[in-house]
Amino acid sequence: MAKRVLVTAALPYANGSIHLGHLLEAIQTDVYVRARRLAGEVVRFMWAADTHGTPIELRARREGITPEALIERAHADHLAVFRDFGIAFDIYYTTHSPETRRHAESIYGVMAARGDILSKETRQLFCPHDQMFLPDRFVRGVCPRCGAADQYGDVCERCGATYAPTELGDPRCSICGTTPTLASSEHLFVPLSRHEAFLREWLRSPEDGGATRLQPTVRNYVKGWVDGGLRDWDISRDAPYFGFEIPGHPGKFFYVWFDAPIGYIGATERWCAEHGEDAAEYWKRPGEDVEIIHVIGKDIVYFHCLFWPAMLHAAGYTTPTRVQVHGWLQVNGEKMSKTRGTFILGRTYLDHLPPDYLRYYFAAKLSGDQGDMDLSMEDFANRVNADLVKKAANLASRAIKFVNSRLDGQIGAPAADAEPLLARAQARLGEARALYLDFEHGRALRAAIEIAEDFNLYLTEAAPWKIVGADPERARAVCSAVVWASKIIAAILAPVVPAWAEKMARMLKLAAPLDLQSGADPLPPGLVLGEYETLAEPLDPAKLAAIIEASRESTPVSASEVAAAPAYEVPPLAAEASIEAFAAVDLRVGAVLACEAVAGSNKLLRLTIDLGPLGQRTIFSGIALSYPPDALVGKRVVVFANLKPRKMRFGVSEGMVLAAGAADDSITVLELDPRSRPGDKIT
Ligand code: 2FM
Ligand code: ZN
Repeated sequence: MAKRVLVTAALPYANGSIHLGHLLEAIQTDVYVRARRLAGEVVRFMWAADTHGTPIELRARREGITPEALIERAHADHLAVFRDFGIAFDIYYTTHSPETRRHAESIYGVMAARGDILSKETRQLFCPHDQMFLPDRFVRGVCPRCGAADQYGDVCERCGATYAPTELGDPRCSICGTTPTLASSEHLFVPLSRHEAFLREWLRSPEDGGATRLQPTVRNYVKGWVDGGLRDWDISRDAPYFGFEIPGHPGKFFYVWFDAPIGYIGATERWCAEHGEDAAEYWKRPGEDVEIIHVIGKDIVYFHCLFWPAMLHAAGYTTPTRVQVHGWLQVNGEKMSKTRGTFILGRTYLDHLPPDYLRYYFAAKLSGDQGDMDLSMEDFANRVNADLVKKAANLASRAIKFVNSRLDGQIGAPAADAEPLLARAQARLGEARALYLDFEHGRALRAAIEIAEDFNLYLTEAAPWKIVGADPERARAVCSAVVWASKIIAAILAPVVPAWAEKMARMLKLAAPLDLQSGADPLPPGLVLGEYETLAEPLDPAKLAAIIEASRESTPVSASEVAAAPAYEVPPLAAEASIEAFAAVDLRVGAVLACEAVAGSNKLLRLTIDLGPLGQRTIFSGIALSYPPDALVGKRVVVFANLKPRKMRFGVSEGMVLAAGAADDSITVLELDPRSRPGDKIT
């Protein structure tokens, strides 16, 4: 049986529209899937909308429609946008499906039978007005550590403290503003520590005899959580909750993060039923020759690298062979913002520009790491116009149009003096194929553009237009080499701009589509080329300005954004403070000596900071979701040095590192010039 390869991208929530952040991930996954297919493999791309949870329940309520109607509308909208961007998924299903329900119940049932589910009485905040228990993100109040007002129920955006919602001062329901009460509720937990041995094995690095499942930074990060002790995971939520009711527990629902990844399996099952395959061939073959590859953002590593493999393992399913983690999208160097018009929806982009420009730009800037990507509008236009238009398309156009107009359209043997360049281009196709398969899309595309640079130079120097009268066969040989190079370039571009490869295949009268295997094969001498088809038009920067303008005006605000991420807008200023109060704050230059993950917390990093003459400090900072531990070592940061030491669950924090938060929960630590001296006062 052929090897089964299944790829997924994260499932977008069905309460909002698809924006360019989603598309970064969709395009990264799509290019990977297409590249493997073009390398001759059978690869399934299973995908869906993530349809459960409180934000969806509340948004539907606010709109006066049922959650089912809401998710159906979002699903149709997502599907159309992804299709129009050329994402080659096999299915875009929904987690609110009978297949997902069946697998959720079955995984839960097996886990319950083997003692993997515990029932515990919990005390939770309850809104008497809305008559519901409030999830962490639906409570706001005063941070118990720094006193900042209007903070979420789980983490303070000001100081990074993490806490239980019950610790908030003056808590308020973020739906209606009422003060919640405490009420008890039975919840179901997965004792993850039972799976520690499995998780350690799953996380073993290749150097240690394990598999290449995770990027090294991600592996260390996740290992830090395991080392810190695995806490019981609460998988239940109380009604009202849009989701699947837990069998045997009326009024209790699976937490959205329990059934969301099961949506990968539900989608596979649905697709298999429609295509005469058996989903068990993918998902019920633990330890066998099946590849399951998840592409996700760095904010959901916890779910995909701890809970998910543990659930699958416990229930006898195939566990992921690779989790590929990427960073976030910024636009013009900043977090996407509605006020700045950089919170751009996929549909708004498509209203102004064709998808291939964005596909190219994202792919050209993607590497296989977790760094954030910046979509700079200026760089976007420049890069598309320089690489695609001026280099790659221009090369093909110069050669093909010349052969058609001056040499009867006929190709011959390539010129001998181009042979070394052609051999290099052929080798580069092989390199590009390997790079795509390692999520190094940017480097793969670099290979194509460098071939174009080499051959543009070659063509200019060989100048067939000067010699065609005296030596038409030399002119033909030169152009034939260039057309061959253009074919190799088109093959490398194929996973990213498929239409380009299709046009090239038509111009070269190829019997089969261009792919990453045969793409470097020579052209048959005597071939008569087809009409030249325009491969790329220049990107007009005015269109980018129009996209920003349209995004400023029309972006709808989703309920989850209102409830969970209001800081996309300018946050209100704090109460006035005197200059004396400010003078009392001792800010100092700190040099980060060490930084490590905090066992048992996914938000905190423990920093060791040198304050020069003031000595060293240990500071806990809630930045772990935005920074891998090694990213800050050696940096100069701003330290609030005379902050009263605070005893936390993980140790005493002796100060605070200044950072700025954004609505998507990412945090940027303020960095100083690397030459600034530790301990110096900042005024
Ligand atoms: O973070 C999110 O947007 C989630 N909807 C991703 C879910 S991925 C999978 F587990 F379903
Ligand atoms: Zn309320």
